[in-house]
Amino acid sequence: MLQNTRWTRSLVASMIAVACAAAAGAASADDAPLPKIAAKKPLKVGFAQTESNNPWRLAETKSFKDVAAKCGWQMVMTDANSSAAKQVSDIRSMIAQKVDLLVFPPREEKPLAPVILEAKKAGIPVILVDRNVDQSLAVAGKDYITFIGSDFIDQGKRAADWLIKATNGNAKIIELEGSTGASAANDRKKGFDDEIASHSGMQIIASQSGDFARDKGRQVMETLLQSHPEVTAVYAHNDEMALGAIAAIKAAGKVPGKDITIVSIDGTRGALEAIKAGELGADVQSSPFFGPISCEVAEKYAKGESIGPWVKVSDKFYDKSNVDASMKDGY
Ligand code: AHR
Repeated sequence: MLQNTRWTRSLVASMIAVACAAAAGAASADDAPLPKIAAKKPLKVGFAQTESNNPWRLAETKSFKDVAAKCGWQMVMTDANSSAAKQVSDIRSMIAQKVDLLVFPPREEKPLAPVILEAKKAGIPVILVDRNVDQSLAVAGKDYITFIGSDFIDQGKRAADWLIKATNGNAKIIELEGSTGASAANDRKKGFDDEIASHSGMQIIASQSGDFARDKGRQVMETLLQSHPEVTAVYAHNDEMALGAIAAIKAAGKVPGKDITIVSIDGTRGALEAIKAGELGADVQSSPFFGPISCEVAEKYAKGESIGPWVKVSDKFYDKSNVDASMKDGY
């Protein structure tokens, strides 16, 4: 075990710097063509999930299980239990098993980039779904086939536009951020913060990560309600944290949807029910159903069709005006 001395700290710092430089260098130095998808059935496909602690993740995993037989995919599935390091080692083990195709949502933007380059070097094609990686470390269309996913910046902007309208441009906002370093958290923050910046009455009074998890969202909200009792609105980067915040608001004796206006992202059944109950104001959908579209994109790529670097998924929007008709969308 390494002791926490100045020498070991500097050794670890230089090891990290070398690893980052190697990853960045490899991204720009490797001009080899992308690996092809083998023309065979079944195709051994590795799907490395980030965690399974919320309905969105469960729906995403299920959508791959459901499409596998139809697509001729034999799935190898792992669960990283909310650890980027575990997701990296899960993917390395899939590379060692020589899967024919890797499909995964990178938990965080930077730590998952080097393993994409390792897969390319091993001749294994990669499709990223749901979240993307830092494009200075691995490049869509060059180091991996494509990124299939929503426009997270636009989701944040749509949440902001609804909140500005619902509060007549006046709100003291607590922002519950997703997992630190995840593209979904970085971009949903950017889209929201940039949009409200030009409205002087809209003020973000606190912004903290709840790691996209219900209980963490509840705990963070409990603490922030004590330090910021003046709060009038909450923007949660996902539904689980919004539902956690609603529980915290009720426990503090306030009425969600009345004392505090809440907007969120995902479109889970729980969130749609919260809209019906008047506790959640609005919800931007973020589809977790990546199985069928991944199969379609992989088949097109295997046939030699050209695929753009971003296959954009479009998202609906829910509020009290359409929630009854939209309950069937919930998962
Ligand atoms: O990357 C998408 C986000 O990750 C979803 O909003 C969230 O629920 C999930 O964990």
